Amino acid sequence: MSERTIALVTGANKGIGYEIAAGLGALGWSVGVGARDDQRREAAVERLRAAGIDAFGVPLDVTDDASVSAAARLIEARAGRLDVLVNNAAITGGMPQEPTQVDPATIRTVVETNVIGVIRVTNAMLPLLRRSTSPRIVNMSSSVGSLTRQSGTAAELTTGPVAVAYAPSKTFLNAVSLQYVRELSGTNILINVGCPGYVATDLNGFRGVRTPAQGAEIAVKLATLPDDGPTGRFFEDAGEVPW
Ligand SMILES: NC(=O)c1ccc[n+]([C@@H]2O[C@H](COP(=O)([O-])OP(=O)(O)OC[C@H]3O[C@@H](n4cnc5c(N)ncnc54)[C@H](OP(=O)(O)O)[C@@H]3O)[C@@H](O)[C@H]2O)c1
Repeated sequence: MSERTIALVTGANKGIGYEIAAGLGALGWSVGVGARDDQRREAAVERLRAAGIDAFGVPLDVTDDASVSAAARLIEARAGRLDVLVNNAAITGGMPQEPTQVDPATIRTVVETNVIGVIRVTNAMLPLLRRSTSPRIVNMSSSVGSLTRQSGTAAELTTGPVAVAYAPSKTFLNAVSLQYVRELSGTNILINVGCPGYVATDLNGFRGVRTPAQGAEIAVKLATLPDDGPTGRFFEDAGEVPW
């Protein structure tokens, strides 16, 4: 087994996921670049390696059972275990998404990627995470999934546009994360949820105000928690996010 810490980041070919891979790699970790497109994945791996990072490509479409199983087999063959899983891949499903106008197919597609995709990847990787001495799962969510913030009291300003597929998919992901925390409470796996802030990426047509590297910081922090660190919590850079 490798002595280096082994991480897998889903959706790591661009945006925040790429910078999470870069941030974890800068710690000297070996980082699996999970990405569904061969060319985009290899380009990202090459860029990371050129920066001195021990990156390796992991073909991974989070909506595809066979792809996710193959990704787990690849990591097992390469490292024998997984220390850190960052579930970062997500889609918005396209805007606008007014609840009165939405095509139900959009909701299904977004939930398939943002929620079921996380469950699919997590369950495939769990046997490998259980072999780690300090396993961590980081689920990249968004404050737009916070019901407290979405209800828009004066103290907690409503965030994000009206988006009946994307925002509730993150609420769903938050709730799913807590179910994992409950089931795995007797283990050493720390599971936390992160929000990167409003980051300029493809996801929002580069309208965000933060850089992808800034957005990656919370994931790196949650991926590197000490063994007595928190679990089952929702964080952004400024502190805890209300559910
Ligand atoms: N940007 C923001 O302001 C913001 C705010 C709050 C939360 N977030 C969250 O932060 C995370 C990263 O977002 P981002 O802004 O970096 O978005 P992004 O630039 O659009 O990147 C999304 C990544 O997910 C991948 N992906 C999508 N569907 C996939 C699938 N089925 N299988 C595998 N990979 C898939 C994309 O791959 P392709 O290149 O192949 O499409 C891409 O690598 C997401 O969870 C997002 O919800 C972002």
